Amino acid sequence: MKLFLDSANIREIREAASWGAIDGVTTNPSLVAKEGREFFPLLKEICEIVDGPISMETVSQQADGMVKEGLSFAKLHKNIIVKCPLTKEGLKATRQLSRQKIRVNVTLCFSATQALLAAKAGAYFISPFVGRLDDISSDGMALIRDIKTIYSNYGFTTQILVASVRHPLHVVEAAKIGADIATMPFSVLEALIKHPLTDSGLARFLKDWDQLPAQVKAMPGAAALKPRSSRTRSSR
Ligand code: G3P
Repeated sequence: MKLFLDSANIREIREAASWGAIDGVTTNPSLVAKEGREFFPLLKEICEIVDGPISMETVSQQADGMVKEGLSFAKLHKNIIVKCPLTKEGLKATRQLSRQKIRVNVTLCFSATQALLAAKAGAYFISPFVGRLDDISSDGMALIRDIKTIYSNYGFTTQILVASVRHPLHVVEAAKIGADIATMPFSVLEALIKHPLTDSGLARFLKDWDQLPAQVKAMPGAAALKPRSSRTRSSR
């Protein structure tokens, strides 16, 4: 499963990219607004950091405007994916853009019927918002299962991009269902790494190592390693 970062923050994107963790980036008007930077230069910079799909959302309410914006976004960089909302106008724009070979991420999806229509319109990605469904006591991951079944039944090639991810279990469930991508905030991506047993296990390894005599620890050719503690230890 591919992992995307749901952020327009350059520092977060650079850090996540340095781990080899992300295959793409999703943005939306709220995430871009948080950065307070010019839209096109910011998205261009993101494209230069991550060599993968970068979603950039239209803000027109009518299909013609979305298509016009989408065509200008696509000229920015080869990896740009145009984001359109799951509305009648958004479906019209998706159909027109996809027929011009412009890849569209249809966003703000909250039902299986919406996802079916997006696939029929030619969506490249579908973004069901699982966290916002959970927030209103609906089952976000059940929607992903339904979409996966429907798309598999009819051979739709639209990729399922699980969005509005709130915690690591959303990522695990998305992978178990067979979603194509999960996009998540930096905080959730960081949480995927953390485990208290890893931290305690590493601390124990290093404590045991530190207690060895210097000559045992010598690593010929490696830079001289200073003992972790400032205390000098008598060799046993
Ligand atoms: O890409 C969609 C995502 O940014 C929405 O997440 O947490 O606002 O529901 P959230």
